[in-house]
Amino acid sequence: MAKMCTFPTSTSILLLLFIALLGSLCTTEALKSKVTNVQFYMHDIVGGPNPTAVRVAGRPSNFSGSDPIAAMFGSIYVIDNPLTVTPNPNSTVMGRAQGIYAMASQHDEFSLLMTLTYEFISGPYNGSSFSVVGRNPVMRAVREMPIIGGTGIFRLARGYCFASTHSMDEMDAVIGYNVTLIHY
Ligand SMILES: *[C@@H]1O[C@H](CO)[C@@H](O)[C@H](O)[C@H]1NC(C)=O
Ligand SMILES: *[C@@H]1O[C@H](CO)[C@@H](O)[C@H](O)[C@H]1NC(C)=O
Ligand SMILES: *[C@@H]1O[C@H](CO)[C@@H](O)[C@H](O)[C@H]1NC(C)=O
Ligand SMILES: *[C@@H]1O[C@H](CO)[C@@H](O)[C@H](O)[C@H]1NC(C)=O
Repeated sequence: MAKMCTFPTSTSILLLLFIALLGSLCTTEALKSKVTNVQFYMHDIVGGPNPTAVRVAGRPSNFSGSDPIAAMFGSIYVIDNPLTVTPNPNSTVMGRAQGIYAMASQHDEFSLLMTLTYEFISGPYNGSSFSVVGRNPVMRAVREMPIIGGTGIFRLARGYCFASTHSMDEMDAVIGYNVTLIHY
């Protein structure tokens, strides 16, 4: 404290001006930010001849053991899932979700660690992408996951998405996404 008081007055004034300038810059940035809401359906196909989600690592699963959650714990999947406009897999493909998810819980409920990029390949966001890293307790009706960045239109994005299972056919799932992105 005593040291602060010995600063020359001009230095203090410069410091104050700098802080004020920084504050106004931050405000300007905040005013320029946009909010985009996107909805699509992701097709996670594990079975059949053309899977889009493949198990690449993990312990040998033993479902005759007592706990299916414990049996799946440690499984790692690489995915390249189409994102369509409607739940129908034949509807327009807006983009692709690519990356890795892992079965990261061994108790209570199935939960994935999602580390995925969602890239748009048609429509108004063609060429732009956003990234999700977060916990996905897949059996819950609605799962919220954080968006931690993006490219193109979504450069510097942050936001959140809600995922809910639209339909299941054995292990294959159609997941509805409702995405809110804040970007510049
Ligand atoms: C699977 O779990 C059951 C029950 O715990 C056990 O009897 C069996 O030996 C296990 N099988 C393998 C391949 O580990
Ligand atoms: C999608 O198209 C394929 C091939 O034309 C067809 O066999 C399938 O029934 C269609 N699926 C739906 C849900 O419309
Ligand atoms: C999306 O962008 C790519 C690269 O810019 C372009 O080649 C492609 O034609 C676009 N697709 C659509 C459907 O607009
Ligand atoms: C999607 O999320 C937005 C923002 O959180 C919300 O306003 C909207 O009602 C949601 N839409 C659907 C179909 O869930």
